[in-house]
Formats: sequence, C-alpha cells, structure tokens
Amino acid sequence: MSTSEGLSDPAPGPTGSSAAPTAGSRVSIPDVIRKKRDGEKLEEEEIWHFVQAVTRRTMQDGQIGAMLMAIRLRGMTPDETLVLTRAIATSGRVLEWPEEWRGLLVDKHSTGGVGDKVSLPLAPALAACGCKVPMVSGRGLGHTGGTLDKLESVPGFLVSQSPEQMMQILEKVGCCIVEQSEELVPADKVLYALRDVTATVDSLPLITGSILGKKAAEKISALVLDVKFGSAALYPTLESAQQLAQSLVSVGSQLGICTAAVLTKMDGPLGCRVGNSLEVLESLECLEGRGPGDLRELVTTLGGILLWQCGRASSMPHGATHIAKVLDDGSALSTFRAMLQAQGVEAEVARALCAGTQEERFQVLRRAQSQEELVAQHEGTVQQIFALPIAQVLHGLGAGRTQEGQWINHRVGAELLVSVGQRVRKGDPWIRIHYENPELSDADRRNLQGALILEDSEPFAPGSKVAKTILPQKVTGLVVEVGVR
Ligand code: URA
Repeated sequence: MSTSEGLSDPAPGPTGSSAAPTAGSRVSIPDVIRKKRDGEKLEEEEIWHFVQAVTRRTMQDGQIGAMLMAIRLRGMTPDETLVLTRAIATSGRVLEWPEEWRGLLVDKHSTGGVGDKVSLPLAPALAACGCKVPMVSGRGLGHTGGTLDKLESVPGFLVSQSPEQMMQILEKVGCCIVEQSEELVPADKVLYALRDVTATVDSLPLITGSILGKKAAEKISALVLDVKFGSAALYPTLESAQQLAQSLVSVGSQLGICTAAVLTKMDGPLGCRVGNSLEVLESLECLEGRGPGDLRELVTTLGGILLWQCGRASSMPHGATHIAKVLDDGSALSTFRAMLQAQGVEAEVARALCAGTQEERFQVLRRAQSQEELVAQHEGTVQQIFALPIAQVLHGLGAGRTQEGQWINHRVGAELLVSVGQRVRKGDPWIRIHYENPELSDADRRNLQGALILEDSEPFAPGSKVAKTILPQKVTGLVVEVGVR
C-alpha cells in the first residue's frame, strides 16, 4: 500500500466535528486552570482548548504544570476523562491500516512498575502469532521504568518512527515499539514529560488520557491493560487500582477498542532484574523460553487474553498456550531480532543479542563499571523484596529522570540473587547493584537492606502475581464481566 494511504489528518474536534475549537476561541487558559483548581467541571470546549494549547506549545510549561496539578488534586468526571482522552488521541495523526489487518491489530500497556519488561517479549510473541502490534510506548515515569528507555539501551535502536515507517515495519515484521512524536500523540509527549517532573503521575484521568490517547491513535481493535497495584505501583491497593482499571476499560470500550484489564501485584519487582539494559537481558531469556516464572506468566496471560479477544484463540488459556509455544520454539525471538533491525540496530548487534552468548550480550549492552553485592544480615525465609526502595536507589544512581529530557544511565540496575519463599543464611548475597557515577552510598545500602524482609518460617513457593481480570463483553464492547482468578 502507499505510504500515505490510511493516515488521517490531525484533530477532529469535539464530538467528532471536523474542526477543533481554534486557538482564537473565547477560552482563556488561566480561566480553565482556575476552574479546575476550584473543582469545577470543565466544558468539552475547554478541555479541547487545553490539549490544543499543549500540542501547539502556546501554553507555558508553568501553566501546563498548574493545570496538571489541578487535575491531579480535583480529578475529572468520566465524561471529562473521555473528552480529554479523545483530544489527546487526535492531537496528531491517527493511524489507519489495510483492511485485511482489521481485527488483528492489538496492543498491551501497563500502568507502570519496577522490572516490568513485559512489552519487550510480548510484542514480538504476538506478532509471531499473526497479530499486528503498533505499540506506542512510554519512558520511565516517576520511579517506574519505561519500555522506550529499556530499548534505547540497545545501540542503534530508534524509538522515533514516522507513521509511514511504522506501516512498513508492521508489514515486514508484525510489530514495532515507538515513542510519541510531533506527529503521533504530541500532546501526550508534552504532558508525559511534565507529569514525570511535577509529581502528577498518579492521577486517574491523566493516566487514562495518556494510555488510551496513545492506544486510540494506534487504531487497534483489542487492548489489554496491565494495571499494577501494591507498594511500588501508582495505586497501592487492589480497590484503587480496580477503579483505575474500570475507568480504562470503560473509556477504551467507548473509544471502540475491545479493552480488558488484568490487575497484577507490584510489591516486589517483576522478574529478577531491574534497570534498563539488565531488563533487556532478562527479556531475551524470556524470548528463549527461559527466565523468571512471574515474567513468563504475565507475558502468556496478557498475550492469551489478546489472542482470544482478536479471535486467534478459542479461549484465554488456549491463547496463553499459543504464546508459550512461540516463546519456546524461537519464533518470538526471531521476530524480536527482525524488529531490532527494522528499527535501526545493525545486523551484527542484533545477532549478538539474540543468538550470542551471555558475554556477547554484555559486550553489546555494556556492564556498568562497578558492581556490589549486599548480603543478608540474618538467616530467614524471604517474605518479600520490596521494589520501591530498590527503584528509588537506582533512580538516584542515574537510572531515572528528575528533569525533563535528562540523560539516563542505562547500565545502572540491580539483580536479585534470591527469590521470595527462599531460605537464606546470614552473609548470603541477595542483591547485586550495578552503578557508575554517582557511587553507591551508605544511605543507599541502608535503604536497600530495608527492601529485604526475612522471617523465621518454612520456605514456600511464591504465588501468582495476577489477582483479577476485567473483561469486556466481546460483542458490544461494554464492560459486563468481572472475572476473578
Ligand atoms: N503509561 C503511560 O503511558 N501513561 C501513564 O500515565 C502511565 C503509564
């Protein structure tokens, strides 16, 4: 197909009218901020105007920050949230795809976690099952990691791809993982970066607008959301995360996307590695049919739901089996290798990563200059390894941002050397920290030691991280079922 086919122009206006209210309309940005600050409901036109002003950068960063904080503190009604999401989705071009891909276009998104690398193996696994995955992803937000940052630890990987390039990659490989851009959900690019540095990440309408704005612009048929809860998630309790999940499923369905959500625990890190390049290594293990059980469980569960949603599996368990098969037979790994090359990685680098030894992989991703192991201070069974202190220490060592656009050190990270349920003796190493500059401090060591919870009990097998699944009714797109696993 021609590169321009099916790529529509930016921004239809509110309620589908052909033009958004112009910047010259009567809406005043300070009035909109004041209204939200005082807890009033915004008119549709006011929300569109705000998003347009963000997109065109006619609003100062200070004003955007004030508006984000007002929304964070005062919230939005479901109607306002839907309008905000539509406005973000159409702030740039909306993707369209060949008719024969209808029903095959799927995606997954997470609300953000620590060690959450699921997208890296899942996108190619879905593509290996015949789906098309035009994944628009994000960077680290607050203490949580971001898929784009992880992928950028691979030399040469280009997260910036035009809609035309995405089309070509999807035709050839079946999946791509890209960033928001001037062309694609530009409003989210601006808001996302400012939320990260203004303590406005954990806002239900802002998360909904950010995630579903990207997904609606992708023009996918089916979406599964990994909604995290726990001490290292944006929402600590199952109840609050469930509210977010319901909002996401409801808005997603109203946007015409068959949307499901899975509530998963985020007290401890997902998998055994945290930090950008270390997480790429662990993703490669998952793509080889190996790696930590909790990571594989999430990849197969989320993928299984999507295969069922888009009709490529007769049930969620059948879908999960299909995903497990492409992880085990190497086809997901081949697809990942093809995606790396399609997104700018040299063939030899992609080979070393996908078919090389562990040492070759480390040569490509480069080890941090220093590593230090911390040891257990007494004997006991590991009850929990809390992710939040680990993420905070790594953030301080340069793995995350404190300012917009800041350079991050992809090599900073941590490897867990023990797992929940395991018995350890005093002096056993339990975590290895990879760092460069700044160096690991005594305060960091103390904070990290606080993450390991040991008790004098019998060893046990860790439970599933999946707590609950919220499914849409496939035919009507309405939220009708709450399935508890
Ligand atoms: N991922 C996003 O893209 N946006 C959020 O707000 C949270 C997670």
